[in-house]
Amino acid sequence: MTTLSPSALAPTRAPADRGALRLRVTDLHEAAPGIRSVTFVAADGGPLPGHPAGSHLVLTCGDRRNAYSLTGPGVAPESYTISVLLLPAGQGGSQFVHRLEVGDVVDADRPRSAFAPVSTARHHLLVAGGIGITPMLSHAREAVRWGRGFTLLYGHRAGAAAHLHELRQLCGDRLEEHPDREVFLARISQALATARLGTHLYVCGPAPLLDAVLQRAEQLGWPPERVHTERFSAADLDPGEPFVASLVRSGGQVVVPSGVSLLAALEGEGVRVPNMCRQGVCGECRVPVLAGLPLHRDLFLSEAERAAGDSVMCCVSRSTGPTLELDL
Ligand code: FES
Repeated sequence: MTTLSPSALAPTRAPADRGALRLRVTDLHEAAPGIRSVTFVAADGGPLPGHPAGSHLVLTCGDRRNAYSLTGPGVAPESYTISVLLLPAGQGGSQFVHRLEVGDVVDADRPRSAFAPVSTARHHLLVAGGIGITPMLSHAREAVRWGRGFTLLYGHRAGAAAHLHELRQLCGDRLEEHPDREVFLARISQALATARLGTHLYVCGPAPLLDAVLQRAEQLGWPPERVHTERFSAADLDPGEPFVASLVRSGGQVVVPSGVSLLAALEGEGVRVPNMCRQGVCGECRVPVLAGLPLHRDLFLSEAERAAGDSVMCCVSRSTGPTLELDL
């Protein structure tokens, strides 16, 4: 996430269960006030997996796990770099990262992407707000590498922009900096209205920005398949009511206590469900629902998909009733 915010951290898992990586911190610096960039290499000195732009790294932060956008090159990377905004009132992920020291070793999953650029796009319109610049840095880097056309609109508070020097060097006049929110929104609106045919929109930033951009894109008739978003995470979630997940195919029943995610409860019973962000953002952990009413708390499903009620993002969503029947 992208920097995905640590506001919806997930319980940790054993690092061995996903081909995990062991990484060593080699560099730390302040990318902007309150934003720390951390560079890792493989702890054993070996090669690191490559990744497309927009990928993130799920880092084990003490007893929690959190996803952060990779900002560096993804082709044969010699290191991984993330930039993390310190959230003093968060659940600890950013504080963990801000406490790291050079030489520390951490566990992480292999990079995954739910926000990759579309290679057939005729132009890429990148819109970033605040720390939402992190996935856009890798998008811009890849667009430059492959000669793809792009425009990057970067809204930030004056004096608080991360990676500005690097972005200016990388993007030249394809970067537009907007410290004034109203001017930023007006420029986004204009860019959406005048985008050439075949342009894909990518947007990452705070929820109000995403909502405003998506609303404007919809008003202007942008096809949903040309609109790509990376939200920070599902909002702070309450622990929820306990319920029982009935696994129809296998005949099992899994109790999901308050404060434990459906995904974690399933994993606790040995039921493996593909997952990535564990924050309701990526769509990887979608499970078909056969009966019962899901309590959707993710940021992935569309309104129509929510209304259909036939699937649930089990990392954050729950059940409105005592039982949810799953096609598992
Ligand atoms: S793991 Fe990403 S939405 Fe659940």
